[in-house]
Amino acid sequence: MREGKMDGPYRPAGLTQAEQGVLGAAVPRIEGPAKVTGTAQYAAEKAPEGTAYAAIVVSAIGHGRVIGIDASAAEAVAGVLVVITDDPRLPAQGGNSRQAPPTGLRDIFYAGQPVAIVVAETPQAATEAAQLVRVESEAAAGRFDAGAETPDTDHGKGFLPPIDAGDLDSALAAAEVVFDQRYTTPAHFPAALEPHATTAWWDGDRLTVRTSNQIIGAARGTIATVLGIDKERVRVLAPFVGGGFGGKTGVGPEAIVAAIAAERVGRPVKIALPRRQTASMVHHRSPTRQRIRIGCDRDGRIGAIAHDSVVAQNEHGDFVEPVPFGSLPLYAGQVRRFRTDLVTVDLPQTGAVRAPGEAVGTFAIECAMDELAHQLGLDPIELRRRNEPEVDPLSGKRFSTRRLLDCYDEGAQRFGWDRRLPTPGARREGDWLIGLGMAAALRGNFTVEAQARVTLGTDGRVLVETDMTDIGTGTYTILAQVAGEMLGLPVDAVEVRLGDSELPPSAGSGGSFGASSAGSAVVLACEDILAELGRRMNAAPEELRLREGCVSVGERRVPLADLTHGEPIQATGKAMPGAETSGTSQASHGAQFAEVAVNAVTGEVRVRRMLGVFEIGRVLNRATAANQAVGGMVWGIAYALQEEAVVDTRTGRFANPDFGEYHVAVNADVPAIECHFIEEVDTSANQVGAKGVGELGISGAGAAVANAIFNACGVRVRDFPVTLDKLI
Ligand code: MOS
Repeated sequence: MREGKMDGPYRPAGLTQAEQGVLGAAVPRIEGPAKVTGTAQYAAEKAPEGTAYAAIVVSAIGHGRVIGIDASAAEAVAGVLVVITDDPRLPAQGGNSRQAPPTGLRDIFYAGQPVAIVVAETPQAATEAAQLVRVESEAAAGRFDAGAETPDTDHGKGFLPPIDAGDLDSALAAAEVVFDQRYTTPAHFPAALEPHATTAWWDGDRLTVRTSNQIIGAARGTIATVLGIDKERVRVLAPFVGGGFGGKTGVGPEAIVAAIAAERVGRPVKIALPRRQTASMVHHRSPTRQRIRIGCDRDGRIGAIAHDSVVAQNEHGDFVEPVPFGSLPLYAGQVRRFRTDLVTVDLPQTGAVRAPGEAVGTFAIECAMDELAHQLGLDPIELRRRNEPEVDPLSGKRFSTRRLLDCYDEGAQRFGWDRRLPTPGARREGDWLIGLGMAAALRGNFTVEAQARVTLGTDGRVLVETDMTDIGTGTYTILAQVAGEMLGLPVDAVEVRLGDSELPPSAGSGGSFGASSAGSAVVLACEDILAELGRRMNAAPEELRLREGCVSVGERRVPLADLTHGEPIQATGKAMPGAETSGTSQASHGAQFAEVAVNAVTGEVRVRRMLGVFEIGRVLNRATAANQAVGGMVWGIAYALQEEAVVDTRTGRFANPDFGEYHVAVNADVPAIECHFIEEVDTSANQVGAKGVGELGISGAGAAVANAIFNACGVRVRDFPVTLDKLI
């Protein structure tokens, strides 16, 4: 196995120039035809012979104890096989990718917690019977209002420890200009369109779980832990996943429920969570309270910057929304304070939802920069330019690649930023006030340990295998492109197998690390194959030229198939974490621009156009990368204007747990969106030279919309979303 440690720049043989034109091209998704013809199999499709169906009974109270369950009416429903009320392995909530969920039957710590399972011949019978299960509980007072709880400033949880460099109070007291404002963002649902669903079956003591999940290697371990069996006996399948957005990074209760139910009835069991149960059983993004303080001189040069926040979690969750993740290395300033305090609530757990941290942290920091620019009479881009750091302002490390200024310049030029009028409310078309806004985007980059196996077959075709998932992001296609580029093959000569826990373990899809980590593993495996081809050609790998299924060295040209000598050539590559060892500070960057119209009579906001310029290292596929970026920008519109999960603070229940009332941006809300990439291969990030793109597009997108609203009408809303009642 070729292991790739990043302790310096990496220039893989065969990939330095990407001269085949396979990598980076806007290749359409290779699994697209399977999806549109209905042959791609998702978790809840095509049940095996004899499948039964499960439904989950949940707690109506938000805190307290279950003291009795009467299942007699449910058991009397035709088609009901069993009502399970006594299995202590019942998960109380979802797990995350690092931690198994708490299990147990009687103690309730949020409304909507699973308390029993109904298994029936049909989903209809299971659902009907679940409604007839009578749960008797003893309610206790609950902490249902995150905003009313006192923060713990010393919780020690989460992956971003507090940062406190220099004396903030003195620096602010001495600054010529002091900025101090507070911002709030609401709870958000991850809201993947494909349901959280599982089909599970046992073959003797071996369990197969076909589930909708982003990180199946971790899921396998979690499921095994909860069921108390060896993980070698669990196989997890997720060949196609219809969106995850963080909600499927861990194991949902439905996956374990399906396994428990299948064991009990001795048949395969399928379950798809209804949307209203999804809201409480799947984690949501914490609401945030944030405060930005900046001390600068009259020219806007920042000497001190502080981003303080408070987020929520329940007793059993361990995730802490890393609010300042995007603001940490964004601007200069010697005195720096970034912290995330925690309140404990009796509500469903909070967890990673697309772009944990910067999706909401950038509302505060990027609106604050806009406000500060206005206060100083500076153009918002100019203020940012004056505070662009030379090196990582905290660690002092050099940036691997950082083209943020180029993103501002290219974006401003393409968007027509020079047409912005600095005075709010100055541009009017009938009843509509028109404004332009911008924001920076930044997402920290990680490469995570990941393996991939590449096999060159005797027919000259290539097979790529890894337990990586494709959650709609384009993994199948980009891994085919990486292997095709390295081995001189078109994409249709490469087959990619994903989503099976028996394949080499990858990092899965999350944290924007999937493509670069799995892609680097494919690069490393291909380098081993190149080395072997070199031996067979008596040449160094760098001398080989691979084109159109043939290997050339000088005048010699041999088909790949012939070089296999009748035996497949197989190699496994293993990418290793890069950012820590490379000595560089790594992030993806971008600039977001928005034009909005605000109705002067009704306060209605229409986003008219958006444009983003992003720097993401090597672009693996222009089409799928653009899909990621534009999808993030759409989400930014929704976060700015619509999305808000409302907790009824009397009961601890969500008041709007479905798409009828939890509003996301739909086609009518989304204007033409343009995205452009500045490509610079990041040779210190990982072997494939790519940085994360998945979560970059949402970073700053909502702030650009909010800043455009201020420019349009002069109203500054710091409590998101910016609904029309806050503008009139
Ligand atoms: Mo992401 S929120 O790590 O899927």
